[in-house]
Amino acid sequence: MRKKIVAGNWKMNLSKSEALALYQSVDAQNPANEVELIVFPSAIYLDSLKKLDGKLKIGVQNFHPAESGAFTGENSITQIKDLGAEYVLIGHSERRMYFNEDGAFLKEKVDAALQHDVKIIFCCGEPLSIREMNAQDYFVEQQLIESLFHLSNYAMERIIIAYEPIWAIGTGKTASSDQAEAMHAAIRGFIEKQYGKNTAEKISILYGGSCNASNASELFACENVDGGLIGGAALKANDFLQIAKSF
Ligand code: 13P
Repeated sequence: MRKKIVAGNWKMNLSKSEALALYQSVDAQNPANEVELIVFPSAIYLDSLKKLDGKLKIGVQNFHPAESGAFTGENSITQIKDLGAEYVLIGHSERRMYFNEDGAFLKEKVDAALQHDVKIIFCCGEPLSIREMNAQDYFVEQQLIESLFHLSNYAMERIIIAYEPIWAIGTGKTASSDQAEAMHAAIRGFIEKQYGKNTAEKISILYGGSCNASNASELFACENVDGGLIGGAALKANDFLQIAKSF
């Protein structure tokens, strides 16, 4: 049985008091079912959120792969782990696009997080131009090859993957359940080709991109969709909780 996960990427939103209130509201109503709930606030709120001592897991949206050094403005994996982050997002399209994070750099981040035993949600997904050429499978496979497929089976089994088609992020234009299932099955196939069926079957693959309380149940009903990585709809406690109950 693969783990079901619903994660909220709060991106660069919310004041500190809003972040604390949202965390408390979700945590208080956490359905405590078999679904793992995780939130990714701004790293600067991590310490305050951890002090709430809730059940809701916390991760960070970014870190630098170096242990320490002259990287002005960055936080290392040891620093964010020290503040209690259990998860990291790696490979989000916004980091790839706006901060020029390429496959080789993301690979360094993957290795750093694994080395420090911080769990990874690795994001992949194609832009609209690639989808229009029907080249999305090849594109996403390359992203996995570049940053993940150097890992051992043991390490690979600790990765969570999020498929986020860029054309669906923040656009209100979600992938259809057929499109999501086709890509999730393809991703599992790529993993199987590299690591065998046993490993491929263990890895949770989340869908992200305009997933909300109205479309989550249809998406989560797909055989290879094991949950969601939620942006906008994760900023409202009730919407996020509704999504978490959509399996
Ligand atoms: P939206 O749910 O706002 O489309 O964002 C998805 C996303 O980028 C989550 O990481």
